Amino acid sequence: MGNKTILVTGGAGYIGSHTVRQLGEAGENVVILDNLSTGFEASVLHGKLVQGDTGDSALVSKVLSENDIDTVIHFAAHTVVPESVTNPLKYYWNNTCSTRNLLEQCDKHGVKNFIFSSTAAVYGMPNSEFAREDTPTAPINPYGSSKLMTEMMLKDLSHASDMKHVALRYFNVAGCDPQTRIGQSTPNATLLLKVACEVAVGKRDAIYIFGTDYPTKDGTGVRDYIHVEDLADAHLRAIDYLRDGGESTTLNVGYGHGYSVREMLDAVERIDGKPLNIIEKERRAGDPPSLISIAEAVKTKLKWTPKYDDLDVIVKTALDWEYKLRDNPDGFTK
Ligand code: UD1
Repeated sequence: MGNKTILVTGGAGYIGSHTVRQLGEAGENVVILDNLSTGFEASVLHGKLVQGDTGDSALVSKVLSENDIDTVIHFAAHTVVPESVTNPLKYYWNNTCSTRNLLEQCDKHGVKNFIFSSTAAVYGMPNSEFAREDTPTAPINPYGSSKLMTEMMLKDLSHASDMKHVALRYFNVAGCDPQTRIGQSTPNATLLLKVACEVAVGKRDAIYIFGTDYPTKDGTGVRDYIHVEDLADAHLRAIDYLRDGGESTTLNVGYGHGYSVREMLDAVERIDGKPLNIIEKERRAGDPPSLISIAEAVKTKLKWTPKYDDLDVIVKTALDWEYKLRDNPDGFTK
């Protein structure tokens, strides 16, 4: 890897902090821009943290002027799907308008490479349970739309400037640093495994299964859960790809197979060694029955090889972190 600097927006958040740690291990110079609205200073194990917003043109311009930045990895975003439905303008402001601002500054300052956190939410409810990059995009919530708008801006910009990009469409990120140094600390989390682990450690009373009558293997929703370490690594591979002259591209990142809600909860109970308080509820609005990636292109184009495609490892690392968080909340309370 080179001597240039990488700017990571949202680097104090869940996926961002794992990526920053890996960049540190790879010997990269890193500057982190994070407004700490949902991220934590204690999660930043490498690089220089600048507290601020991607929507603040003067600040972004200053950061880009003061550092020799060739690559930007853009994680900073709001990510709670139900909240995006009740407060869409908050999502379009932060995820779309602020990103436009960031892109304008990157363009002005000659940033060469841009890596963007996109999402499988751009597919909405595909006809098949599998989604490939050419599956039509049809988001069903403002969160997905706000991310798709950035994909569009990036595509248009790639025709009008020298900046190249990789947009990574994440499937269901889960798990934490296997050495338990950092993890997912998001307050009021809604993601299945995080909530189940909070129940396991006694932070919540019960986990609800949203729907048991789906046309799936056991009636519960099926998703493609990918370990955060592998997802973070995809960003490092994307940097190599762009620095080696790769063309702009949009890629799914997932393992290509799925687990049901019941299989996830069974794994938590088995690894934790005690039962969870599980309550069955009606379906949650907007949930597709099954969503699994076809993610071959990321392996061939980016030379990405997943190392943590193992449900037990995903669940154990998430549980270990949740116990650590319960016993040492310092720096991770909001
Ligand atoms: C997540 C992502 C979304 C992405 C999608 C890809 C976020 C906030 N969401 O959404 O961007 O497009 O993965 O597949 O990052 N469930 C329960 N009980 C719970 C929580 C969830 O039964 O308490 C079920 C859901 O109904 C669903 C599955 O578990 O079937 C996963 O849900 P969740 O973890 O919330 O992720 P997604 O909604 O898939």
